[in-house]
Amino acid sequence: MTQGLLDTLIEKTVVPSFSSIGAAVRKRLFDWRALEEYDLSDQLVVITGATSGIGEAAAEVYASLGAHLVIVARSEDKAQALIERLGKNTGNERIDAVIADLGQLDSVREACDELHARYDRIDTLAHNAGALFNQRQRTNDGTDLSVEIMVAAPFLMTGLCLPLLSAGTGAGRVLTMSSGGMYTAALSVDGLEMSDEHYQGAQQYALAKRAQVTLNRSWAERVSPEKCVFHALHPGWVDTPGIQEALPGFSKILGPLGLLRSARDGADTLVWLSADDEALGTTGQFWHDRGIRAEHMSARTRQADTRPLRQKLWDWCESHTGFVLDV
Ligand SMILES: NC(=O)c1ccc[n+]([C@@H]2O[C@H](COP(=O)([O-])OP(=O)(O)OC[C@H]3O[C@@H](n4cnc5c(N)ncnc54)[C@H](OP(=O)(O)O)[C@@H]3O)[C@@H](O)[C@H]2O)c1
Repeated sequence: MTQGLLDTLIEKTVVPSFSSIGAAVRKRLFDWRALEEYDLSDQLVVITGATSGIGEAAAEVYASLGAHLVIVARSEDKAQALIERLGKNTGNERIDAVIADLGQLDSVREACDELHARYDRIDTLAHNAGALFNQRQRTNDGTDLSVEIMVAAPFLMTGLCLPLLSAGTGAGRVLTMSSGGMYTAALSVDGLEMSDEHYQGAQQYALAKRAQVTLNRSWAERVSPEKCVFHALHPGWVDTPGIQEALPGFSKILGPLGLLRSARDGADTLVWLSADDEALGTTGQFWHDRGIRAEHMSARTRQADTRPLRQKLWDWCESHTGFVLDV
């Protein structure tokens, strides 16, 4: 059986693919180059959501590979504690913090102003922050909070940072941490924010994660890959504070069976997409375990993913955030 066929079979069967089994098998199957072999000392990496879980594990690897790391975090205390911890663990002294609450677009705008003021380029912008709210939460202006954090804020940040992302010698890289949960959701713009009456945290999360993957492709269609490439990915099922809090039952069942990935394994493809040249040879793709994956697993979601609807999502983002791409 060829490697590719075995990989595809694993992907179609979800549990082996998303669980720790997928990472372990693919690592051996494709003889993955160890992340430790990459040198990121000439890269400036900006990452959100690095104060916990997958983002924290990614930050540690970025720091150990020598990257100049900028963590965008909402808590000054957590950010400083992380910088100290990473400095101690990796010896990297080039780790900065920019404070921003991604649930407030004004805060995102201020963070981007700060990035422009402090740095002359960004090599990787990693949109990793995310949350699943079992109880509906809203921003000050009434937007669903998960949509603001995972759809609107990354859109605005990407748009405002685009000049920095294309200012280096090579193309910048924008990476978006989506979720395999998005396979269950069809693209929807009118229904992007569920009504209070039908609200279900996991479904609202999946809708936002689907929108992230759609926008990843939309950015790639609008921005030349010579300036910047765009990649979305899903990490599989990863043992993190986020999943323990949002889906305790899931964690409780899969954890003891050894099926959850470590945060380090959950971070692998994110860091790899920042480090490996393979990520520069393509744009607009959806990845898992260092391989390009299908964006749909059912005819229902595939049929809903039309060009007019993708444009409608883009228009919603521009009008909601006030950022309009000048092409
Ligand atoms: N774990 C999984 O199995 C899994 C599966 C699929 C996808 N993912 C995705 O992977 C990413 C990381 O997840 P995780 O499991 O590592 O989650 P986590 O442990 O809960 O970490 C989430 C991170 O996002 C930050 N964040 C949340 N709301 C924020 C806001 N308003 N402003 C700024 N930062 C904010 C958190 O900051 P604080 O520390 O301040 O709270 C934290 O650093 C998310 O996008 C998640 O959807 C995870």
